Amino acid sequence: MSSIRSKITYIYLALALGVGAFVLFASASLRFLEQRMTEGVAIAAFQETAQEMRRHEKNFFLYRAQAELGAARDLAVELEWRLKQDGAALAELAAPDELLALARSLARYRRLLDDGGRVEAELRGAGHEILNRSESLAQRERANLSGSVRQSRHALLWSVGVLVLMALAGGQVLYRVVVRPLRQLEKQVEPLAHGEFRAFSMVSKDREIVSFTQALNHMLEELELHRRLVQQSEKLASLGTLASGVAHELNNPLGNISGAAQIALEEIESLPLSLPETARAELRSWLQQIDDETERARQIVRILLDYSRRSDHEDRPTPLLGVLEKSLLLLRPRLPEDDTVSCDVPAELMLCIDPQRMKQVFINLIQNALDAGGNSVHIHIEAAAAGPHDWPPAELAHDMAMGRAQVLGAPVSAARAVLIRIRDDGPGIHSDRIGQVFDPFFTTRAPGEGTGLGLYIVAEIVLEHGGAIAVTSPPAGGACFTLWLPCGGQP
Ligand SMILES: Nc1ncnc2c1ncn2[C@@H]1O[C@H](COP(=O)(O)OP(=O)(O)O)[C@@H](O)[C@H]1O
Ligand SMILES: [Mg+2]
Repeated sequence: MSSIRSKITYIYLALALGVGAFVLFASASLRFLEQRMTEGVAIAAFQETAQEMRRHEKNFFLYRAQAELGAARDLAVELEWRLKQDGAALAELAAPDELLALARSLARYRRLLDDGGRVEAELRGAGHEILNRSESLAQRERANLSGSVRQSRHALLWSVGVLVLMALAGGQVLYRVVVRPLRQLEKQVEPLAHGEFRAFSMVSKDREIVSFTQALNHMLEELELHRRLVQQSEKLASLGTLASGVAHELNNPLGNISGAAQIALEEIESLPLSLPETARAELRSWLQQIDDETERARQIVRILLDYSRRSDHEDRPTPLLGVLEKSLLLLRPRLPEDDTVSCDVPAELMLCIDPQRMKQVFINLIQNALDAGGNSVHIHIEAAAAGPHDWPPAELAHDMAMGRAQVLGAPVSAARAVLIRIRDDGPGIHSDRIGQVFDPFFTTRAPGEGTGLGLYIVAEIVLEHGGAIAVTSPPAGGACFTLWLPCGGQP
């Protein structure tokens, strides 16, 4: 996967290469101009010397002073020397035969001067030729120089243009790679401020943006999960308060109904003998039903009241295996086979719990598996030490994503804990109902059979202990309850 950092590095490298090439090119063209100017200076000196030489020649013919002739001769020698010395520079400007003709004219001129300037016309002619040739060289040199300056200026302008284009292209790439994705992310963040938790879409394939977006999406998922947990526990808390209030109010009238039914049952016997025995039996059966149903209602009320007396809850270090064994002992009469429940729980696992209340949790969970699975059900209980990061367990992730799990509670961070799984091979729980099983009074059992309070109480006891609970039901069947319970103390 590409990254923004590597792209920025490439852009900087390309720009640095461009600037480097520009500097090399500029210094090469400056050196070229410098060379041209040195040549120009040599040619200008040649031309000046030729002019000086001719001045002395003219002065000789005007005043006939031998010194002028000598000076002209010295300058002719100097010109010959310059012709040799700056031969390379001159060769750039003139064809070899032109330079040869110049050398020949200079030699002839010097010879005529050596002759004492007796043949004036010839000497003047040779001097004129030398000056003409040197002036034409100087002219060509000036034309060449200004041509070179023009060329260099054009080349420099072009390379500055290329550099500017490169910088613009680099800026464009930076905009596409960094600024645009950040703007798009900024737009997607806006709804968050209004409480709309929508997943972020991928705005770029660059590694930094991809991992940033993934982290944001993960955070949103966590937030959403916590929001649901808070909603759920608020709902449960208010329902719990309501339920315990109602239970309290119902206790006395139910007691009165039960008492009245029992008195009525006793009174049947003292009814006049004229009442036929069949009618008496029917009346007895009706009253018995009233008494039984009232007893069931009182049992529900008792569970609720018992549960709402939170002050009783007394946590102490307790071995998990001990609590499980006591719960199984109480359930023994209801277990169809000796091997219905199998346990894989290390004896050294300790919990910081109220053993009485925790016993209720295991009894309710095992009882539910028995109720759902019938006589052929098998229940397996396993437990292992865990930390705060083991919640929710990785194996739940898929079921949670598919809506086949419900999770309650967020474990206290930095706490040592025990992870307990209670699995059965019964019919499992339909995914439409799995979100409701912890709700009070939710039951799928036949009217009069279930109270719908078993799992509600399980969840409440687990949450009271600072633990967490999850239920999943894989498509293959069976239900699995996972409990995270703190051991107390620090990791
Ligand atoms: N192990 C299980 N297998 C299948 N369904 C279950 C299991 N445990 C709980 N349930 C479902 O959750 C519902 C609620 O359970 P609970 O709160 O204990 O109430 P009750 O047992 O009185 O129905 C049950 O009616 C049942 O549909
Ligand atoms: Mg139950």
